[in-house]
Amino acid sequence: MKYSLILFAGCFTIIGCQSKSSKVTNNLDHPAAYVYDPHSYAQPNKAVVKHLNLELEVSFEKEQLSGIATWEIQTASGADTIIFDTHHLIIDKVLSGSSDEPIKFLLGPYNEILGQPLYIPLNRDVSSIRIYYHTTPESAALQWLKPEQTAGKKHPFLYTQSQAILARSWVPVQDSPGIRFTYQARVKTPRGYLALMSARNPQKINPNGIYQFEQSKPIPAYLLALSVGVLEFKKLGERCGVYAEPELLNQAAFELEDVEKMLIAAEKLYGPYVWERYDVLVLPPAFPFGGMENPMLTFATPTILAGDKSLISLIAHEMAHSWSGNLVTNATWNDFWLNEGFTVYFERRIMESLYGKEYADMLAVLGHQDLINTIEQLKNSDKWQDTRLKLTLDGHDPDDGVSDIAYEKGYALLVSLEKRVGRKRWDTFLNRWFTEHAFTSVTTEQFIEFVHKHLFRKGSDWDKKSHFHEWVYEPGLPANYQPPTSVRLDSTVAEALAFLKGKPATALAVKNWTSHEWQYFLRQIKEQLSAYQMAELDQAFHFTTTGNSEIAVLWFEAAILHHYTPAYPAIEAFLKQVGRRKFLVPLYTAMIKSTDWQNRVKELYHHARKNYHAVSRKTIDELLQI
Ligand code: BES
Ligand code: ZN
Repeated sequence: MKYSLILFAGCFTIIGCQSKSSKVTNNLDHPAAYVYDPHSYAQPNKAVVKHLNLELEVSFEKEQLSGIATWEIQTASGADTIIFDTHHLIIDKVLSGSSDEPIKFLLGPYNEILGQPLYIPLNRDVSSIRIYYHTTPESAALQWLKPEQTAGKKHPFLYTQSQAILARSWVPVQDSPGIRFTYQARVKTPRGYLALMSARNPQKINPNGIYQFEQSKPIPAYLLALSVGVLEFKKLGERCGVYAEPELLNQAAFELEDVEKMLIAAEKLYGPYVWERYDVLVLPPAFPFGGMENPMLTFATPTILAGDKSLISLIAHEMAHSWSGNLVTNATWNDFWLNEGFTVYFERRIMESLYGKEYADMLAVLGHQDLINTIEQLKNSDKWQDTRLKLTLDGHDPDDGVSDIAYEKGYALLVSLEKRVGRKRWDTFLNRWFTEHAFTSVTTEQFIEFVHKHLFRKGSDWDKKSHFHEWVYEPGLPANYQPPTSVRLDSTVAEALAFLKGKPATALAVKNWTSHEWQYFLRQIKEQLSAYQMAELDQAFHFTTTGNSEIAVLWFEAAILHHYTPAYPAIEAFLKQVGRRKFLVPLYTAMIKSTDWQNRVKELYHHARKNYHAVSRKTIDELLQI
């Protein structure tokens, strides 16, 4: 396995050298233009997909998708083979798209991270290929939820999570963010269910269970998405709406009330929204992420439904990906910060336009704390090199590169550029970046080149490669890092200190605090609380039963640390229901260290694990060494 990877790397280096332009395009007019992606077996410089016609049947009984992926392809002259990525897929047969003649195929050796390459020989005249296939219980993108894992408790539910390299576990595809294609799909579900995709979507259940989809903009494979459930739609504005189980629909529509305003604000900043509609699907709580930016239809965790819109920056984040990520995409997962750093920056600009600078400053300071914590944790560990923005994930699961570094160090770099040149020039520059790179995939180096060409005046001190070098290629935080500040969060510091010194909880000046002030307050005190203070806080503010998931998780961490047993049943219930990895990691980490939980945590996890998506299972398995 290693051998073939090295071989591929070698041949791509040669192709790369022949290319004059470093620009990544999705077009074989420049057949040598694709950047080598260590996480895909595809060789797009030889044969590349252009359009997918997907026909799928959804069986909840068998927990299986089966169907046909018909790919229109483009080949460079002399190409004799097209290579797809697959992972735990069964390939039943392959036909030539035009003649329906069977074509032989071969599945290459299995690699735990990458899956299996699917080799299909090409005759001169083959321009499309039909792959008959079905998924398996190991198809990691898919989560088949039992009725009891849904809000309605009556019907099963299916959703996919394709990012980073899981699309290949439900569609045979060239699974690289550097390769884009358009798609259409026909999905057959059992009667009474609604199917939704990252495409133009239906708004109500079709009694015959057949749904047609079209995505007319070229997207990379990690943005392929499907969900099937008993779902309803509610309009939020001209271009926006929300899908959820009927039990959650009104609550979701209230929480997401401002989404259309966000879209208008986003367009004012960085140019027209090109994806026609922006809808949100609120999933059951097993969903492993806060949100996923599937084009036209963000997938979101129900843990953002706090009842007061306080966690809505997550939607601004996923919406921002419509520009940074979906329109201009990281070329490989080593450039992941281009997706996430830009998106965090854009998210905070959207939040600032809607709710003001003081609000956005709170988000920045909380993010800064996350960044500092991550850097502290990775210091003196073998993962120190992962604190560089440009990653080297070759031979590793790209999921290993997902940390606050891409998000918050990436954000900080962009803020430093904004500060350097002023907001006006910076915004003009970013508009240009998005316009000129629309529907392409870009490398970190292309971004740096673009900055030097269009942002810096010649001779300015930033006009030296060394500054970027420190930010992008060095671990840790650069010397010129400037931490953000927040007046509103600063005002909680005195209360936190006073409380630790004995000021009664009921006397704290917390009147206009939003959930962000509460988060900051809890972060300051959570390590130092006595049993008495835990009980006092709970009596005054009812943290154990809070409906705000961010506050709940901080509180639960403190409860585990300080043996606050009245919160234990709530912690167990939370872990059995919620599969959001960002919440699971700190809670299980705290449990491993706690004498109360050490002996019980594996037993608890054994029950809870069934409810988690493969992405979260993998992380927690590793954490608990299972
Ligand atoms: N695209 C990511 C989620 C993702 C990243 C999935 C890498 C798989 C691999 C999404 O946009 C995201 O960043 N979600 C965050 C939201 C947050 C930063 C507001 C999350 O899920 O916590
Ligand atoms: Zn993101």
